[in-house]
Amino acid sequence: MKKEDIEKILEDLNALKCKTAKDVEEARVRYLGKRGEITALFEEFRSVDGAVKRELGRPLNELKQKAIAKIEELKEALAQIEDESAPKADLSLPGDPMSLGSRHPVSIVRQEIVGIFRKFGYDVAEGPEIEDDHHVFEALNFPANHPARDMQDTFFVSAGHLNPLLLRTHTSSVQVRAMETMPLPIRVVCPGRVFRNEAISARAHCIFHQIEGLYIDENVTFADLKQAILLFAREMFGPETQIRMRPSYFPFTEPSAEVDVSCNICHGKGCNICKGTGWLEILGCGMVDPNVLKASGIDPEKYSGFAFGMGLERIAMLKWQVNDLRHYFENDLRFLREFNTSIEV
Ligand code: PHE
Repeated sequence: MKKEDIEKILEDLNALKCKTAKDVEEARVRYLGKRGEITALFEEFRSVDGAVKRELGRPLNELKQKAIAKIEELKEALAQIEDESAPKADLSLPGDPMSLGSRHPVSIVRQEIVGIFRKFGYDVAEGPEIEDDHHVFEALNFPANHPARDMQDTFFVSAGHLNPLLLRTHTSSVQVRAMETMPLPIRVVCPGRVFRNEAISARAHCIFHQIEGLYIDENVTFADLKQAILLFAREMFGPETQIRMRPSYFPFTEPSAEVDVSCNICHGKGCNICKGTGWLEILGCGMVDPNVLKASGIDPEKYSGFAFGMGLERIAMLKWQVNDLRHYFENDLRFLREFNTSIEV
């Protein structure tokens, strides 16, 4: 028995590579089995003389440990490869259900109203939510001391300037931008979010949504306004719907009116939604004040127009009999899921 015999096996072991579990088992038998090479060296070792024993005893033991460790190592490496190639999940399990969201009631109403006015030939215009005093008040004929310009009513972003920045309190500001930039005749609806400094309650919120409409051309009259509103109301609330107009006041329209539609819940008999009157207020409107046309560079001698504006939350409240404005902003899923049926994919 020679030192080289041990070294030779050690070298073989170091170079050993196995692809399968069977290869590993064969290697184990080859070195450590009953007739294995290392087992054979141990047999031989018994009969060598003392000097050789002293010289080769330790390396021989180390060789055996090394072989055991190597076989273990190969086994583990193979197990890991098998793990990685195995599917991570049970692909035969049923998939996770995809939960479809639902559209927000305010979006549903906005799309419905915009859709109706598109049919009438209106374009959609949008404008910034952070506006300046000029577009929200000045160009719309608000007098300098109008209460809407008060800190109590409007959120100011920068106060004290000649033309302070503020959160728009109505989408009429988009109407001004349309008059400043669009060629005549103008026919637009302007949907958007508006802000007012109100305490939040069931009937008021500091954020809500409006749609404003504007039509400017030669010879536009109050009769055109009435007809547009009537057609809209019948598309929106049903062909039997009646409208009535009550005189009102807005700084930017003259004359101005508030529009009620016949209650489509009790059909005029009186219920708790229309508070027994048979009518529901839905919008404000009027003929654009000549001062407003002038402020945006339109000749009021040649052109006239009408404007109207409505609150989307209010229309949605009437449509679905929602009794608390706060539901629209809390996004409680139990509330939002009530509107599932209206999903269009
Ligand atoms: N801007 C008005 C409001 O916020 C609504 C309105 C628009 C009235 C256009 C008349 C004409 O209440």
